[in-house]
Amino acid sequence: MSSGQVPPTQTDQLMDRLSEGARARGDRPRSNPEIEDEGPIAEATILAIDDNPTNLKVVFEFLRDRGFKVLIASSGESGIERAQKARPDLILLDVMMPGIDGFTTCARLKADPLTQDIPIIFMTALADVDSRVRGLTVGGVDYITKPVERDDALARINIHLQLRQEMKARMAAQAALTELAAGLEEQVQERTRALSESLAQLQQAQVQLIHAEKMSSLGQLVAGVAHEINNPVNFIHGNLTIAQEYVEGLMELVDLAMGGAIATDIEKVATELDFEFVREDLAKILRSMETGTQRIRDIVLSLRNFSRLDESHLKAVDLHEGLDSTLTILNARLKGRGNRLAIEVVRRYGELPPVECYAGPLNQVFMNLLANAIDALDEGPPPSWTGPELDWQPRIEVRTEALAGDRVRVSVTDNGAGIAPEQQSKIFEAFFTTKEIGKGTGLGLSISWDIVVHRHGGQMHCRSELGQGTTFMIDLPVRQGTAS
Ligand SMILES: Nc1ncnc2c1ncn2[C@@H]1O[C@H](COP(=O)(O)OP(=O)(O)OP(=O)(O)O)[C@@H](O)[C@H]1O
Ligand SMILES: [Mg+2]
Repeated sequence: MSSGQVPPTQTDQLMDRLSEGARARGDRPRSNPEIEDEGPIAEATILAIDDNPTNLKVVFEFLRDRGFKVLIASSGESGIERAQKARPDLILLDVMMPGIDGFTTCARLKADPLTQDIPIIFMTALADVDSRVRGLTVGGVDYITKPVERDDALARINIHLQLRQEMKARMAAQAALTELAAGLEEQVQERTRALSESLAQLQQAQVQLIHAEKMSSLGQLVAGVAHEINNPVNFIHGNLTIAQEYVEGLMELVDLAMGGAIATDIEKVATELDFEFVREDLAKILRSMETGTQRIRDIVLSLRNFSRLDESHLKAVDLHEGLDSTLTILNARLKGRGNRLAIEVVRRYGELPPVECYAGPLNQVFMNLLANAIDALDEGPPPSWTGPELDWQPRIEVRTEALAGDRVRVSVTDNGAGIAPEQQSKIFEAFFTTKEIGKGTGLGLSISWDIVVHRHGGQMHCRSELGQGTTFMIDLPVRQGTAS
């Protein structure tokens, strides 16, 4: 830019606005008395850099008389040094100097973080439009003309000092805010850390609680199975003593016969023994002992079948086997108790193809659904039942059917009290339980959902009506990888 109009500076604009305001208020024109009377801003320090001693003297005296603290330098290099040490609030900078000129000095001051914020006003000759423009482009904020026109210079200096003060105040506020934010951030982090710790402790406690509860329900289950086994064992044990007595008597007879005893003696002993009865009864006892051992074998087989510990991989299995094993394990809980009759179990098994699944986890699902049904029936008849409590027949129906599209359905229905509509949406959530502490963890259905839906690509539904009972349905693909 060689000539033409100098772009308006911030100062020009501010001064324009000041005078516009005055015109609008109808103030009589004055020789800018506010500016003339204004003292130095907060004892500001001004550094004047000029190689011309006469100029420097004029500026020095003029500013000192106005109450500023004035520093001087006669070259760009010494000016930079002074600025770095004294950090003045404003710099008046001559353009034409031997050594580095004003523009270079300005550029260096602006490049140094120590001095870059100090406003620089160039001092240029009135006619030197090019220098003014260049001064503004290298980082100067304004210019004043030489010879210095005092009112104009003072006004510009004051405005830039004011702007700098405001800037400093803003930066201080910003720094304070940043510090505050950092403090807050730290507090938030501290709180978050404390909360995470409590959460971890809570989760740990919860895990222990669940473990304890699961162990206690497992304990109940084991106790039930032990009871189931104990019945035939006691029965066999009791009958063994009788069988032993019978056999001893019979051996006595055999000994007599072998020893050549006479018939009347043998007959006498046989009558004492009640030989005919013993012969029949021994056969009966042996048969029932066989039934007892068969029952024990069934239970042991069911336990093996249920746990399927040896099958952690996918395998096509007969779901009915899993259902039967689970029912056998739960047998003790199905028996009559208190005011409740024995639970009638109705098996409506359809024709099912072998289903490819993780048999162990799936048996757990059957166990959860059947245990929930028994829990519901343990609560007694639904409120709609008007007869004597003992006349009410609790019932569980286990149904299986093949569905279209290579899918199968297993349903477990009970005729218990049902689930309230507002609870039906929550029953699959982890830890949702309506059972008393120590009886339910609220995990059975959420674990079952996970096994059916996520591990097998199946679906799980519940249909329940208050007072009518509940049905849980599990739909499974016959083959894995074909789930829609
Ligand atoms: N057959 C049912 N009849 C009535 N309510 C049921 C039935 N099945 C489930 N529920 C309701 O759903 C809730 C959640 O069942 P879920 O099996 O997930 O947990 P839980 O049985 O309470 O505890 P657990 O973890 O020991 O199984 C039960 O507390 C009960 O309110
Ligand atoms: Mg349950």
